[in-house]
Amino acid sequence: MKILVVGGGGREHAIIRALKKSPACSEIWCAPGNGGIGYDAHCQPIAATDVPAMVAFAKEQAFDYVVVAQDDPLALGMVDELAKAGIPAFGPDKAAARIEASKVFAKNLMKKYGIPTARYETFDDADAALAYIKAQGKYPAVIKADGLALGKGVLICQNEAEAADALKEIMLDKKFGASGSRVVVEEFLTGPEVSVLAFCDGTTVKPMVSSMDHKRALDGDAGLNTGGMGTVAPNPCYTPAVAERCMTEIFLPTVAAMRAEGCPFKGCLYFGLMLTPDGPRVIEYNCRFGDPETQVVLPLLESDLLTVMQATTNGTLDKTEVKFRDGAAACVILASGGYPLAYEKGKPITGLAGGQLPGAADVTVYHAGTAVRDGQLVTNGGRVLGVTATAPTLPEALRKAYAAADGIHFDKLHRRSDIGARALSILNK
Ligand code: AMP
Ligand code: GLY
Repeated sequence: MKILVVGGGGREHAIIRALKKSPACSEIWCAPGNGGIGYDAHCQPIAATDVPAMVAFAKEQAFDYVVVAQDDPLALGMVDELAKAGIPAFGPDKAAARIEASKVFAKNLMKKYGIPTARYETFDDADAALAYIKAQGKYPAVIKADGLALGKGVLICQNEAEAADALKEIMLDKKFGASGSRVVVEEFLTGPEVSVLAFCDGTTVKPMVSSMDHKRALDGDAGLNTGGMGTVAPNPCYTPAVAERCMTEIFLPTVAAMRAEGCPFKGCLYFGLMLTPDGPRVIEYNCRFGDPETQVVLPLLESDLLTVMQATTNGTLDKTEVKFRDGAAACVILASGGYPLAYEKGKPITGLAGGQLPGAADVTVYHAGTAVRDGQLVTNGGRVLGVTATAPTLPEALRKAYAAADGIHFDKLHRRSDIGARALSILNK
């Protein structure tokens, strides 16, 4: 089979490395991809959001299967357009992608079907939103832009002045573009966070191994929110009892709700959960694999990824085994100094050969933002590399990932030194 993966970050690299293990995969492409992905796949410089160009390319190259990994092409209906061209694709159609693309849609869905989440109200008027927050008088108040905002459209406000500023930024200054025309104002929840990715075929849901993201830029969860600075899997908070509860209270009801609404979800559904003192709550849904969760989840997948993906497209997931191996994985992100704000690009990267670390067993380097200039691998993004290690236990996986990361250098490299520390403290309790 000739396969195209749409996107160009560490998540797409991890998907490509997993798909390449499939005996049925004979040729793999990535669009747009990046320099380091180029060691593993043919890259084609088409923007992931350019639906007409991507569909034309897929037809011209006669791909047998397309994996749409990134949120915005899914929200734009790339899977629908590929289907019209007769090309099967992994991922939800446009109607089902609303579960991520519109927080108002997601919140209303949860309310209608009794899926546990933070209490909320939606507003399309900044004054009305502020009046509601004032009347509630409860802080912190959580304000979320309705649409896609690169994971940055959530503002946690400690007082009325901050709430007024947040509403101005989102709704009047349109800091997140059109996605800020409507907002969700919701109650602030507390508890450990868990990411669960699940394969869905519209009816059946099969969760993958759980994981823990580290969203803040600096050690000790300080600094700004980023796309994610590292991950570990499994997440030690996600005990079998919690998993069972999430299945009956959240996963099955969500898949049934999407069917009932006439937009069955096929692909990877990402459950961002908070384990509150009152039980698990949905913080957010994503309509795709998480980044960098994928970089720790797929290395633990024992089943053939291509077979499972096709089962989600064909509606045969109930008959398809989704098996994970025992053990743990850890991913440390190497970022450009300054990320998530301004940073420099074009710094030469040393320590890698063919994109990987020579001699490091059970270690894979996923390329998030790299380019090749005159034969030299250079930085080309905020998140540059993800160094993943697998091992029988989490402490070993973390030790191996950090030892491997020590062998990779570029000017102004920034990484967190405490990925997995919270998970270890929970394991040691
Ligand atoms: P999101 O971009 O939706 O993943 O939100 C970013 C982060 O904001 C989440 O990972 C949570 O840590 C936090 N967050 C979002 N909603 C809430 C909430 N209702 N209560 C507390 N924290 C929240
Ligand atoms: N790591 C969080 C996300 O992919 O949205």
